Amino acid sequence: MNNVYTKVTDAVNFFEGNDPTELAKQYQTPLYVYNERILRQRCRDLKELVTYPKFVVDYSAKANSNLAFLQIVKSEGLEVDAMSPGEIFLEKQAGFAPEEIFYICNNVSEEEMRYAIDAGVTVSVDSLSQLEQFGRIAPGHPVAVRFNPGVGAGHHEKVVTAGKKTKFGVDPEYIPQVKEILQKYNLKLIGINQHIGSLFMTGEAFVASIARLFEIAAQFKGLKFIDMGGGFGIPYKKEEGEAPLDLKELGAAIDRALYQFAEEYGEQITFRIEPGRYISAECSVILSTVHSVKHNHDKKFVGCDCGFNVLQRPIMYDSYHGVEIYRGSDVPSQKRETVTIVGNICESGDILAKDRELPEIFEGDVLGVLDAGAYGFAMASSYNCRMRPAEILIRENGQVVLTREREELDDLLRHMIPLKEN
Ligand code: LLP
Repeated sequence: MNNVYTKVTDAVNFFEGNDPTELAKQYQTPLYVYNERILRQRCRDLKELVTYPKFVVDYSAKANSNLAFLQIVKSEGLEVDAMSPGEIFLEKQAGFAPEEIFYICNNVSEEEMRYAIDAGVTVSVDSLSQLEQFGRIAPGHPVAVRFNPGVGAGHHEKVVTAGKKTKFGVDPEYIPQVKEILQKYNLKLIGINQHIGSLFMTGEAFVASIARLFEIAAQFKGLKFIDMGGGFGIPYKKEEGEAPLDLKELGAAIDRALYQFAEEYGEQITFRIEPGRYISAECSVILSTVHSVKHNHDKKFVGCDCGFNVLQRPIMYDSYHGVEIYRGSDVPSQKRETVTIVGNICESGDILAKDRELPEIFEGDVLGVLDAGAYGFAMASSYNCRMRPAEILIRENGQVVLTREREELDDLLRHMIPLKEN
């Protein structure tokens, strides 16, 4: 193999001695590749975030809910959050006990809420009307409430989930009404939670939001836990030397706040966080084959099989993902050039990487799309009737295992009911 452009994966020995062009040949592309060692390391980073003893990391499975992935997270001693009955179901399949699952729902039907209650998981509701619904279904039950601390953060307005412009959480102004509903249905408030948004690279907003959340918590007696939410970012522009989130500094600030609140509150309360991206993003690279290289007017386009059905983040949020180049032959790239890398979906917006300066790319090259493990496969679709890709896992000993089969044409027919006559 010719290592044309592999700086980021080399630095962490991502492929553990496997040749990405061989993996592409064997499993075909597009292909999600995961590294178990990196996943485990990210779980451990966050478990050690603070010294406060009653601290739980709930992995937010919406970022990546592959079963093998969840099993690894479970074996690292993390718990999980869930956003849907589907996530609760998969988490149980992966071995999580009901008391290790925190269901944070938003605008759900009675059936969904009942599914979670019957499954024995803790439920958090995020509006007065959903609290009423919970009370009607399960009077006398323990419940949690998600508040909106009024402080948001995130890499794009679509993923800021607190503050004055979002649908999430209960406005703290309604605390008296929350108390009334709790009393009306004899519900026991065992926890409160928040999630201010996704992908912050500095901790100020998070630390400010937990101070606000603690003010809210102080107005309720007998809480067992406070869940501070996720949003811990990762550096997507690694080739440009973007620094990672300073977990030491952030952890120290959070730790101080936890000890102080616990002392004031007077009970050994449990604190939780619910990160998705931090745990899952960096342990995955998508392999994609280049099928055409062309000039169109002033632009050079590299066409590959990683359309936005495979990775939606660039088209959805203008997100940046680093791109590497692996080549099966020894032919060198003679120059660097600016190219736009596009997929095979019939929309002009199907752009994976815009105006990137990279070593010359040839047809047949395999591209590595970096940091794809969070909201990658989880948001993949079968748009244009393309099959969702396979997923493989590189185990800690370098062995490669398949953790999801590539969809086949027959899968497109699943659940479709043709007319008997027309
Ligand atoms: N907790 C709740 C209630 C959430 O809604 C989320 C994410 C998380 C935790 C985990 O957030 P994280 O630690 O991963 O930032 N698709 C977008 C991100 C959407 C996040 C939605 N909620 C993206 O690709 O950037």
